[in-house]
Order: sequence, then structure tokens, then C-alpha cells
Amino acid sequence: MRLLDRLSASLAPAADDDQMVAAAPAQRVRSILRRFWPFARPYRKRWLAGLALAAALPAIEAVEIWLFKSVVDDVLVPADLAALWPLAAAMASLALVGALLSFGDEYIATWVGERFTLSVRAKVFDHLQRLEPDALDKRRHGDVLSRLSGDLHAIETLLLSALAEAVQAAARLIFFVGALFLLSWKLALASLVVIPPLWLAARAFGRLARRAARERRRRSGTVGAVLEEALANTALVQTANAQGREQARLKREAEGASEAELAGMRVAGLFAPVIDMIELAGAILILALGTWALSSGDLTLGGLLAFLAYLSQLYRPLRDLTRLYTSVFEATAGAERVMELLDTQPRVVERPHARELTRATGRLELRGVHFSYDRQALAGASLVVPPGRFVALTGASGAGKSTVAKLAVRFLDPDVGTVHLDGHDVRDLTLASLRRNVALLLQDAPVIDGTIADNVAYGRPDASAEDVRRALAVTGLDLDPATPVGQKGRALSGGQRRRVAMARALLQDAPVLILDEPTAGLDAEAAQALVAPLRAIARDRATLLITHDPVLAQAADEVVVLDGGRVR
Ligand SMILES: Nc1ncnc2c1ncn2[C@@H]1O[C@H](COP(=O)(O)OP(=O)(O)O)[C@@H](O)[C@H]1O
Ligand SMILES: [Mg+2]
Repeated sequence: MRLLDRLSASLAPAADDDQMVAAAPAQRVRSILRRFWPFARPYRKRWLAGLALAAALPAIEAVEIWLFKSVVDDVLVPADLAALWPLAAAMASLALVGALLSFGDEYIATWVGERFTLSVRAKVFDHLQRLEPDALDKRRHGDVLSRLSGDLHAIETLLLSALAEAVQAAARLIFFVGALFLLSWKLALASLVVIPPLWLAARAFGRLARRAARERRRRSGTVGAVLEEALANTALVQTANAQGREQARLKREAEGASEAELAGMRVAGLFAPVIDMIELAGAILILALGTWALSSGDLTLGGLLAFLAYLSQLYRPLRDLTRLYTSVFEATAGAERVMELLDTQPRVVERPHARELTRATGRLELRGVHFSYDRQALAGASLVVPPGRFVALTGASGAGKSTVAKLAVRFLDPDVGTVHLDGHDVRDLTLASLRRNVALLLQDAPVIDGTIADNVAYGRPDASAEDVRRALAVTGLDLDPATPVGQKGRALSGGQRRRVAMARALLQDAPVLILDEPTAGLDAEAAQALVAPLRAIARDRATLLITHDPVLAQAADEVVVLDGGRVR
């Protein structure tokens, strides 16, 4: 065991002290199977049919080898050509059947695999969309993407090709061992001596392979994260002259990934010759015993050759075990990473009998709300925005203003205290109806990649082109609605992007509107230019304007100040 430990230390991937993406918690194979089985379940019949085809293939191989024995004993040894033709015909038809079976097997496996991946991916994506934005922002998006692609693919490989291979190996074991005993039970018993050393070798190898596979999956996440971050922040990277540093970061992670790959290769590469040696020892033993059996008339020459052929074919699944192991561990590691995503529980959930609020009159109220992230942000904040009123909420940066906005649309729930819409605790309303009634203009005015019109109509895809144009006119944006906004709205100026977001809120026509720093980052002139459209969209609804711009705050009917986690 000491030797094994030392060996595993030298084979294992290098340690990584600065883990950008932490390893997901390890899971038992059984709990992984239990977790993912429901996704494969609808396709179980086809899948079983595929496995049956896979299991039938070794039977064909067994018969083929048996025919080979007949060729030696009935055609070659007596030099009788006439005996060849029926055997040749049998061989040809077997080959044809084998080809059909193997095509069917692979096609079905791929079909089931695609379906399986599709439904797992849909489930994970659905789950991610239920998580509150803060929870998702804590994760590196590149890593999440890698979990949705590479890790899922690894699970698919396990469930389909790897499992088919395992079934095939088991079937081969049964058919071939049966054939061995049919040919000569004494020799067959003798050839079993190689099993214990083979089993030991496979076990030792498995441990190492699992470690390498986990590291490989984790590294693929970090590589994804570095790429995604650098690409999403090209402008920042270039202005900070940080290309070299990003390059180095990618290189470090990519080298880690290839080191993990090599570690896996070393393990597999060492396993193959060990198996070969054990196998060779077995074959030599059988040759010696076989010569004796041949001389004593216990076995024909064809029989001995067939015996050796079966034996070498029997070792094949063992050698394939390397591949099987790799995919099992790759899949386990991938599954761990996918399960970790699925196990992230949303903090905000809709109550079972939540009420559907058709249209609120629009009274937003916070009652003694306490909320803490790591530190306390709100400590007993109370606030009322009556229907139709325009209230400005100001306060220093970090006072908790955006937190109030997030609480109102349930991106967060209060630790203590309640938030009410029309007198209903917002936790008693369906999330959809709450968010239909409370429009939130986020601080950074996010846009999707598309045209201005796509963005304005995002919350109401059924809006007509005329509706869109009218909403844009109110905000005073004099750009063609067909103008593309570019990735993250980078083809628009800050003021233009905010007007697009305002037009979207206007189109949503919610009775409560919350604007989080609608003029943040704009110069005084651009900010001033937004006052008129702001007033226009605030008309006839309860509006909470979060701002620390005094000029903008003056546009409101009432100004309240957030300080020390409370409203003064
Ligand atoms: N996702 C978060 N995780 C941890 N702390 C946060 C998070 N968002 C905000 N905070 C902290 O909570 C406090 C209030 O934040 P915020 O409501 O955004 O303030 P404001 O909008 O008034 O500038 C700040 O101290 C901020 O650092
Ligand atoms: Mg803020």
C-alpha cells in the first residue's frame, strides 16, 4: 500500500493552490445514478433494446471463433477444400448480422444520449433561471457554461457508450468463458489464475483514474471561466494593459488542464502494460498446458487455437476497462459538478398557494425590514409609496437603496419584516404577478443582444411596432427601433441605453415602478435630459426613484433618506 501511495503521488495531477473554481463535493456513484436515472427513464425501452443489441455482439464473435476452429480441424488439417464453402457462407452471414447489430446498437445509443442530454440540460437551465440573480453572480459564468456542456456530455458518455461497453464485456465474459469450458474444462480452470492479479491491478488503477478525472473536469471549468471573463471584459483588459496577465492566467489554467490530462494518460498508460504482462503470463501457462493436452489427444489443434483466441478476446474487455474506467470517472466528476448546480437552492421560492394579483392599485410598502448579506444592509427600514405618488429615495452609496429595490421584486426576501404590495405580503403573491405589477429599472440598465425594438418589447413580446415606437418617443430616443444595441448594449451610449430601458418599463405599464439610479454614470447634462422622460413614465403610477442626484430628486413629490439601514 505504501508503494501504491507513492506511485499515486507521482501519477496524480499537480496540486493547484489558487483554485479559481473549487472542486464540487464528491458523490457516490449510486446517488449519481439515482439522481440522473429519471432523465433516462422515459427512453428506457429503447435503451434496453440498445443494450440487448450490444450484448448480442459477443455471441456472434463467439460463434465466429468456433467456426474458425472448424476451419482448422475440418479444412486445413485434412486439406479438404470442399468443406470450406459452407463454413465460408456461415462466416459471411454472421459478419453481416454483426454489422447490422452494431449499427443498431450505436444508433440507438446516440439517440438516447441526445435525448438524455437535452432533458438534463433543460432541467439545469430551468433550475438556474429560478435562482436569484445574486446567487448566480457569485458563480463564474464560464464554469457554469462548462458544466452545462462538457460535464453533461461526460454523463451522457457514461450512461450510454460506457454502460453498453460494460454490458458487452459482461456478455463476452459469459459467452467466452462458456466456450472455454466447452473446449476443455481443465484448461479453462487453469486460465482463471490470472483473475486475482487482474482484479487487483484494476482496483489500484481505478482510484488513480478517478482523481485524475475530477481534476480534469474542474480544470475545464476554470479554463472556461478565464476565457469568458477576459472576453466579456475586453475593454477593461485592454485599457489596463492586462492582456499579458490574462494570457498568463489562461496559460496557467490551460497548463493545469493539460497536466490533469497527462496525469490521466500516465495512469492509463501504466495500466495497459501491467495488464499485458499478466495476460502474457496466462497465455504462456495455457500454451504449456495446451501442448500437453494436444499430445494426450485431449484437444484438437483447432480446439487449442480457438481456446487461445477466446482467451485473448477475454482479455479485451479488461483492456477496455481503461476506457470504461475513464468514462465512469469522467462522468462521476461531471455529475458531481452538475449536481452541485442542481443542489443550489433558490432562496426565494413561490409559496404553494400563492395568489395571482391581476392588477394592483399600486401601493408599495416596507414594514420594519431587516436584511443582511454578509454585513447588515437594512435595519428596520419602513417606507410607503402610495398609488400615483412619486417618491425619491436617496442616501449614501452603500446605504442599501438597491437592496430595497431587490426586496420589492423578490430578488431577496427580508430577514425580518415584510414588503407589501396593495396590502398583500409579496411572499403571498406569485412571482410572475408580482413582477408584472412592479417594474424595476435596474441600476445598470441591462439589455439583450438584439435591436432596440427587441429590447423595448422584451417584457411584452406581443407589443405592436406602433406601441414600441410610442414608448420610445416618450423617452425621447431618436434612433431607429431596428438599430442593433450590440453585446451588452455597447453600441449605445449610457443615456441611450437607459432610454431603451425606460421605454421597456413604460411598455410594461406596471402600477408600481422602481428606478434604480437611472442617471448613474451620466454627466449632468445627460442626466438633466432624462428628467422629462422620467416624469412622463412616472405619471399615474407609484414611482420609487432611487438616486443621489439632488436635481433629479427634486422631480419627485417627496424625498426620503436611507441612512444606517433605516429611512429617516
Ligand atoms: N450581493 C451582495 N453580496 C454582499 N454584499 C452586498 C451585495 N449587494 C450589496 N451588498 C452590500 O450591501 C450594502 C448595501 O448595498 P446596496 O443596496 O447596493 O447599496 P446602494 O444601492 O445604496 O449603494 C453595501 O454595503 C454592499 O456592499
Ligand atoms: Mg445601488
